[in-house]
Formats: sequence, structure tokens, C-alpha cells
Amino acid sequence: MLFDPLEIRGVALKNRIVVSPMCQYSSEDGFANEWHFVHLGSRAVGGAALVFTEASAVTPEGRISPQDLGIWKDEHVAELSRIARFVEAQGAVAGMQLAHRDGRPPPSVPGRETASSVSRKAAFDRSSPRARRPSVPTIQPRKSWTARASPAS
Ligand SMILES: Cc1cc2nc3c(=O)[nH]c(=O)nc-3n(C[C@H](O)[C@H](O)[C@H](O)COP(=O)(O)O)c2cc1C
Repeated sequence: MLFDPLEIRGVALKNRIVVSPMCQYSSEDGFANEWHFVHLGSRAVGGAALVFTEASAVTPEGRISPQDLGIWKDEHVAELSRIARFVEAQGAVAGMQLAHRDGRPPPSVPGRETASSVSRKAAFDRSSPRARRPSVPTIQPRKSWTARASPAS
């Protein structure tokens, strides 16, 4: 079962192993780097069928931490494309979790001081009312994010 192929909305997966999004707190100005290449690429080499990036901010203000991966600049695309090409060369599907923090305080980051006492688990808790209620400043730019994401999908 775990190693059986699966198709989800037209996307063919060679098995049911999915690497879930995991913040790496390793970007500068949203850029992917060698860390992300190895983190994501090695999971694809290991046989996962679908490898997600960490929560990747669509605006700099929407980051969970200043070290989050981002996709708000065209310049971000080159390294992300290199990673996606490598992941796909292993027979895996490259996925990206698009994210916007929407005003919630950032979670505490291991090894880094933050003002927040909100746990990382709470930051990704989709049942939180804050997680379900986007603010107006979040909704307004959404059209442009969607337009930006479409060519990649
Ligand atoms: C280090 C770390 C970083 C995480 N970063 C994200 C993230 O960027 N986006 C997200 O939706 N979930 C994130 N999560 C949650 C995981 O993607 C995943 O949903 C969770 O670990 C699954 O846990 P479970 O198998 O115990 O249910 C993170 C978890 C960990 C441990």
C-alpha cells in the first residue's frame, strides 16, 4: 500500500510517501540555498514521491520567521527551479507550500531568540480561529499571488 502509486488531481505519485513542509530557518531574504537543495533533494533521493518545501512566504511581511523561504521576488525562482529539477530527476514531484502568516506572532525558533511564546505547533494549527480568518490586508494582495503561482502549477 505505502509503495503503491497514487494519483491526486492529475498528479501522479510513484508511492504514498510525502515529505511534509518543514521550516528550515535557513534563508536570507527568502532565498533558497545549498541547505534547501540538500534538505529537499536528499528526501527525493531517499524515495519520497512528493517533496514539499517549507512554508514559503508570498510577501516578506507574511514570513513566520525572518529566515523563511520566500517567493515574492523573481530572483527567488532560479534556485527553487534548480531544486525542483533535481527533485523531479529522482522521479519525485516537487511541491511548494505557499504561506502568509497573517498577523499571528512568529513561533519560537530553536536556537534563536524571539519575542513570542507561541509554540511552533500552534503556528501550524489550522484549527486556530486566527488561521481561518484572513485579514483584509492579506486578502487584497491574494489575486497577485495567485497570478504569480499559476504559471508554475
Ligand atoms: C521542524 C518542523 C517544521 C515544520 N514546518 C512546517 C511548515 O513549514 N508548514 C507546515 O504546514 N507545517 C510544518 N510543520 C508541521 C509538519 O509539516 C507536519 O505537519 C507535522 O510535523 C506532522 O506531524 P504528525 O505526523 O505528528 O501529525 C513542521 C514540523 C516540524 C517538526
